[in-house]
Amino acid sequence: MAASFEMRCIECGKAHDMSRPSYACSSCGNLLEIVVEREDALSRIGKSDLKKRPLSVWKYKELLPIGPKASVFSLDEGGTPLVKCSRIGKETGLKNLWIKFDGTNPTGSFKDRGMTVGITKAMELGMKTVTCASTGNTSASLAAYAGLAGLKCVVLIPEGKVALGKLAQAMMHGAIVVSVKGNFDEALDVVMRAADKLAMYVLNSVNPFRIEGQKTAAFEVCDQLGGRSPDHLYIPVGNGGNSAAYWKGFVEYESLGLASGLPSIRGIQAEGAAPIARMFSSKSDRYVPVAKPETVATAIRIGNPANWKKTYKAIKESRGSASTVSDQDILRAQKMMAMSEGIFPEPAGAAALAGLLKDVEAGAVDKDARIVCVSTGHGLKDPDTAISQSVRPRSIEPTVKALDKLLRGR
Ligand code: F0G
Repeated sequence: MAASFEMRCIECGKAHDMSRPSYACSSCGNLLEIVVEREDALSRIGKSDLKKRPLSVWKYKELLPIGPKASVFSLDEGGTPLVKCSRIGKETGLKNLWIKFDGTNPTGSFKDRGMTVGITKAMELGMKTVTCASTGNTSASLAAYAGLAGLKCVVLIPEGKVALGKLAQAMMHGAIVVSVKGNFDEALDVVMRAADKLAMYVLNSVNPFRIEGQKTAAFEVCDQLGGRSPDHLYIPVGNGGNSAAYWKGFVEYESLGLASGLPSIRGIQAEGAAPIARMFSSKSDRYVPVAKPETVATAIRIGNPANWKKTYKAIKESRGSASTVSDQDILRAQKMMAMSEGIFPEPAGAAALAGLLKDVEAGAVDKDARIVCVSTGHGLKDPDTAISQSVRPRSIEPTVKALDKLLRGR
């Protein structure tokens, strides 16, 4: 092991055996997390050449709970661009706005950060079959990494609600794709109940090793901002894994002295799938799942986020917020990113900017603040939504005259 790690319950703190697959506390049923032993991590990092290594998930290997002898299954994930948004900045008056474009990962979403660690762990545990429920991206990523490791892969997706590109990926990479007559929450329920019985390793974000891979995005953001965290991090929330992972990353990096400051986490949910944002708007601690989630951003069409407690804690601890955006807000932000900054996100990958724009319009944002919006998935994943909102190509005869006429609008 590169540093000392423990797997503990997020609620009662009970330690669990890391050499066996487990996702929930055997005493109280809450989720598990990996705890990094600080002094040990510090001594390892002290001896390493961390600063000289290029950005990638495995740049931070001393902070990942994988043994030094493990074979790492990697497609060179991470090291994604942090794009300074000058045009959107000008339009909104925001002086320091960046988009962390995680849609440039090998399979086109942030899931690859978690999957390289999760699949490496699956191999360490000697698993033969991996599984997940997915709104699309997790299944695409898992299928790719399972193929890389030679593992059998079973993915459960909500019938008719997965964007075309993601479906193509899962099928091409050779997963057994199972279409469930129900939504994501119901598919995840089946996966969790089937896992032990059918000897399948679950690689949804309830798997704490996946969260470890995903926390590296926060390390990268700090490194890309010259060793400082942003003031605010806007991030879409679906199952609640990534927002919790980012917060864990920022806290660890700061506590190890590798970055200064901590951001507020601004979780953004789609209006029709917003159980966590509702907790904040109703100012109650009562969690009420949404029975029939609906949104154009199918990636975050989730009514009962498995990680709601982790994300709720992250947002509270960071003094952040959780709020909603409409489908119209999401599609507007998607277009803005594509037209003004050269970034083509899938709808969920535009939700963070949509949330920020809403806050700017409400006058709730300090224009000098350092703000990062996380864009989680690539627009090519969901060509149907992109095409349905765009001007169709216009047909002409192959002559200059015809082109000239068209451009003059005649
Ligand atoms: N953005 C995209 C593009 C996603 O695919 C997801 C989740 C999220 C945001 C939300 O992240 O769940 O960690 O809060 N997609 C999962 C999937 C659920 O199955 O691909 P989260």
